[in-house]
Amino acid sequence: MVDLLLGLQWGDEGKGKIVDVLTKDFDIIARFQGGPNAGHTLEFDGIKHVLHTIPSGIFHENAINVVGNGVVIDPVIFKKELDNLSKFNIDIISKLLISRKAHLILPTHRLLDAASETAKGKAKIGSTLKGIGPTYMDKTGRNGLRVGDLEFDSWKTKYRALADKHEAMIDFYNVDIQYDLEELEAEFHEGIAKLKELTFIDSEEYIFKAQAEGKKILAEGAQGSLLDIDFGTYPYVTSSNTTAAGACTGLGVAPNKIGRVLGIFKAYTTRVGSGPFPTELFDEDGATMGRVGNEFGATTGRPRRCGWLDLVALRYAVQVNGVTELMMMKADVLSGFKTLKVCTAYKYKGDTISHLPYSLEGDAVTPVYTEMQGWAEDLTKMTTAATLPKALNDYIAFLEKELNVPIKIVSVGPDRLQTIHR
Ligand code: IMP
Repeated sequence: MVDLLLGLQWGDEGKGKIVDVLTKDFDIIARFQGGPNAGHTLEFDGIKHVLHTIPSGIFHENAINVVGNGVVIDPVIFKKELDNLSKFNIDIISKLLISRKAHLILPTHRLLDAASETAKGKAKIGSTLKGIGPTYMDKTGRNGLRVGDLEFDSWKTKYRALADKHEAMIDFYNVDIQYDLEELEAEFHEGIAKLKELTFIDSEEYIFKAQAEGKKILAEGAQGSLLDIDFGTYPYVTSSNTTAAGACTGLGVAPNKIGRVLGIFKAYTTRVGSGPFPTELFDEDGATMGRVGNEFGATTGRPRRCGWLDLVALRYAVQVNGVTELMMMKADVLSGFKTLKVCTAYKYKGDTISHLPYSLEGDAVTPVYTEMQGWAEDLTKMTTAATLPKALNDYIAFLEKELNVPIKIVSVGPDRLQTIHR
């Protein structure tokens, strides 16, 4: 069986930390979608690590890490990640396996991303500009360059044809994008050389075999359900399926082989980039969440927008993914709020609804809140469920009742050790 671990909001829920906490129970950690638009932060032994493409199990001796076919890899960023890991004495060649079917992000994909966003003006998606959208466009358009192509001499011809086409497309956008392609290509080729040192595999075959041998596999999602290309707040989404089904297509896991579905959410809500966010706060409460929660993008450094927990959106994510267990992150950030608000329904076109309508844009919905008592206690040193304040237990019980799924982990700080199991 393969367990899934998914973000249920707009990303940045803390998946990296939880994968790191759970890795001891798994033999294989596999990424199945997204690319270096992700920034998975792990903290232990006083050091903070940010991973973009490499699965979050890389620091554990027991785990093999697989970058699946659904992932898009930028060799330049990948090389930087590997360089950062070089001081940790990790046997990368045997611990990190790359799917031959994963697609490559070219320097011109990044440029196209920038050109597209610039051309959109105010309507921009707020992309991380890592070339994600253009790379998935080439994948579905059947033009992409894949890791496995690097094993054939013809890859350079394919590369040239694609990059030339991209240059013509960049011209078509007719926006002011400055770039030195020669310099970008030099970096790209260094990245490719580094990538070629790694072990390429037919990852679906590897995952079939591992299942047959009874290995424990965790599929690690990136971004969050509300950024899913189909089910998210389109068009303000990323270009992959971030929901449970993405693990089937992004790793070759059959639906009947999926075991537990672990859903991660923050005790409040954040979003980075553009797009609707019904419970967003523009007041002191939102500023406090941002400050205490250190809400800045791990990939872009952009400040994240903050707001109350939105149970309408969370319930939707629980349903789309078939979540079996919940993990609530950053409970410590809510310490000190006198009252907490939780959105349980939306006012929409004069009605009260409890599902996510087709469009959330503009003022389409107004949140309906339930108010709850806050807690003052600092949670960051707490290690057992028995010590949690009553008001927090009431908050948890309310969410469990509304979502009908147990909350098994409450995270009270960024460190591995600040994790309470219930
Ligand atoms: P892209 O995937 O870089 O094109 O970005 C599309 C949207 O998804 C933007 O709003 C980004 O801010 C958002 N996004 C992409 N990756 C992440 C992530 O890992 N965490 C949070 N937001 C993300």
